[in-house]
Amino acid sequence: MKTQLVFATGNANKMKEIREILGGLDVDILSIKEADIELNVKEDGVTFEENALIKAKAAAKKTDAIVLADDSGLEIDYLNKEPGVYSARYMGEDTSYEIKNQTLLNRLKGVPKEQRTARFVCAVAAVFPDGETIVRRGTIEGYIGESAAGKNGFGYDPIFYVEEYGCSTAEMTSQKKNEISHRGNALRAVREELVKRI
Ligand code: IMP
Repeated sequence: MKTQLVFATGNANKMKEIREILGGLDVDILSIKEADIELNVKEDGVTFEENALIKAKAAAKKTDAIVLADDSGLEIDYLNKEPGVYSARYMGEDTSYEIKNQTLLNRLKGVPKEQRTARFVCAVAAVFPDGETIVRRGTIEGYIGESAAGKNGFGYDPIFYVEEYGCSTAEMTSQKKNEISHRGNALRAVREELVKRI
C-alpha cells in the first residue's frame, strides 16, 4: 500500500494548495475528513511552530499515516506583531474580515509606508509514524496598504501588499500567490524532508 499522508486541516483551500505542492510524491494525500479523524485541539501555543505541532501531534495519535499540520497568521511590525498567532481569533472568530481589515487600517492611519511593514508567517509541522517531528517556517514580506484591494484569496489578503508586485495578495491569482506565499514556502521546505524519508 502507498504511504499515506494526512494534512490536519478542514480548510479546502489549504488542501488544494498542499496537493499542488506535494504532487509528484509517492504518497496518498488525505484531508482529515477523508482520514475520518476528528480533531478537537486547543491551539494554546505562543508560536506558530508550537501550534502546528500541537495539531499534528494530536492527529498523529489517531493514525499510522504521516501527519502534517500548519499554523499561520499575519504579523504587523508597527502593532508589535499583532495579530500574530491570534490572526484567526482577532476581534473574534465570527467577525468578518471586512471589519477586521478595516480596523487594522484604522489603527495604522497616518503611519508612513516604511513603518507599515508586515509578513505572513506559516509553520508546517510533520509527525512521522516513528514519532519523529519536524517543523519548517515560511514567510512572505510585505506591507499594509492604505486601503483594501482585490477579491482573491481570503482573510487579510486585501490589505497585504507585496512591493515587488505592486499589488495586494488578494489581487494575485492563486497560482502566483502559491509560488511566493508563506504557506507555499513552508510546504516546499517540508517537501524536501519528505522526499528524504519516503
Ligand atoms: P490558521 O488556519 O489557524 O492557520 O489561521 C490563520 C489565519 O491567519 C487565517 O484565518 C487568516 O486570518 C490569517 N492568514 C493566514 N494565511 C493567510 C493568507 O495567506 N492570506 C490571508 N490571511 C491569512
